Amino acid sequence: MKFFIDTGHLEDIRKAVELGMADGVTTNPSLLAKETGISFHKQIALICEMVKGPVSAEVVATDYEGMLKQGRELAKIAPNVTVKLPLTPDGIRACGVLSKEGVMVNATLCFSAAQAILAAKAGATFVSPFVGRMDDVGEHGMGLIREIVDIYRNYEWKTQVLVASIRHVTHVIEAAHIGAHVATMPFKVLEQMYKHPLTTLGLEQFLADWNKSGL
Ligand code: E4P
Repeated sequence: MKFFIDTGHLEDIRKAVELGMADGVTTNPSLLAKETGISFHKQIALICEMVKGPVSAEVVATDYEGMLKQGRELAKIAPNVTVKLPLTPDGIRACGVLSKEGVMVNATLCFSAAQAILAAKAGATFVSPFVGRMDDVGEHGMGLIREIVDIYRNYEWKTQVLVASIRHVTHVIEAAHIGAHVATMPFKVLEQMYKHPLTTLGLEQFLADWNKSGL
């Protein structure tokens, strides 16, 4: 299972790289809007230098021609740029064209199995179901992940299931149980994964015993 860091914040990316846990990065317009004082393309270029794996950068055009134009411009920034396109008819159409051109595409804002099937048929590299946002409205986000993974297993589609909108550690564990290819998470969720009170207490006890022993 790959771990992507869901942020546009360079310091969080640097820390995740240092931990050896950043297989890639996902951004979106809302995340990048928080990073002031630097242009969108420059920020993506900096992230692509820090992380070797796929870095998702989203188009803001909503029409087919505009998405193609912006997607091609983004793809020129670095070889690891993954163009993020929304799961609309225009987005899926642009996904088919860019994928055939050899550009990695992340089909985003996926909320149904039907949309995930369309993304796979259009040759997307990743499909991003948003589990947290589904949970927010009383739907079962991880149920959708299971459904998509089951469907994809019936075919030889190469599209990877990228679990997005992760809010807590349980989402990551459930995604791993199901066999999703990628989990993208805020840095704070990655940090939480390391924490267990018995590890902290156990280590304190070992060190206290060692220091008392005089060895
Ligand atoms: C990832 O690609 C998405 O942009 C992100 O996970 C959305 O997360 P949110 O629902 O917490 O905004």
